[in-house]
Amino acid sequence: MSTTDLPPLPAATLDVSATPEQVAFFAENGYVSIDRITTDEEVEWLGLVYDQLFADKRGGFDGGYFDLSRPYDAEGDDLLPQVLMPEYQHPQLRDTVYFRNARRVASALLGADEAQLHGWGHMILKPAQRGHETPWHQDEAYWPPDKSYTAVGAWMPLDDATVESGCLHFLPGSHRGPVLSHHHIGNDPAVHGLEADDPDTSGAVAVPIPAGAATFHHPRMIHYAGPNTTGGDRRAYANEFQLAPIRSPRADERPWLDEGRKAWDARTIT
Ligand code: NI
Repeated sequence: MSTTDLPPLPAATLDVSATPEQVAFFAENGYVSIDRITTDEEVEWLGLVYDQLFADKRGGFDGGYFDLSRPYDAEGDDLLPQVLMPEYQHPQLRDTVYFRNARRVASALLGADEAQLHGWGHMILKPAQRGHETPWHQDEAYWPPDKSYTAVGAWMPLDDATVESGCLHFLPGSHRGPVLSHHHIGNDPAVHGLEADDPDTSGAVAVPIPAGAATFHHPRMIHYAGPNTTGGDRRAYANEFQLAPIRSPRADERPWLDEGRKAWDARTIT
């Protein structure tokens, strides 16, 4: 669906901010759940954009669509496909109630000026019956190690996210720890998805939320989402918000990034 075929963005508005209790919960636990971040009408509109991008296998840029759980050049059904930066295909995504509320909440959680927050979108689909698990990982493990980050990720399902369909699981307090050692899923650098080497997940909590609600998590939060064993797709639309990263005097080693970059450069399907 091109932008011209798309129905108008619903005019309904909903202003959501984080309460002091939610800000405190995030500081303590590294994640927080927000009951409602946008309207049902907008969830429906976002679903139209979402379904067409996945049907067309089109990301926001060339190569911005791929399966997180399989090698870049794999054929057959995708098990954990994602669309990176969909806002480059549909700039209206930045005008949505969801985006504006998520940025406002992010600003409160980070104690950062909203105008200074940069963001990018990320849609992850767990198809009905075959959606692959998203292994335990930290988002910061995907990022260059020579910078320090002030960042938070917003995650909104377009379908009710249950334990069975692949809601997020968090390890409360893990955001205060270091970035763990990670490896590519299946130890194959041609698989984009990362997995933490040996996390202790005994204290983890599942956070099921309905469509139109959202969770926010710190980039060092150790998190996971199970496979989708239900008969319906689990569609989720995430946005990462961060201040401009600051060069860090101490850099840890993230060899999986170099391995992954070589495999990315070698891929033939884009
Ligand atoms: Ni993640």
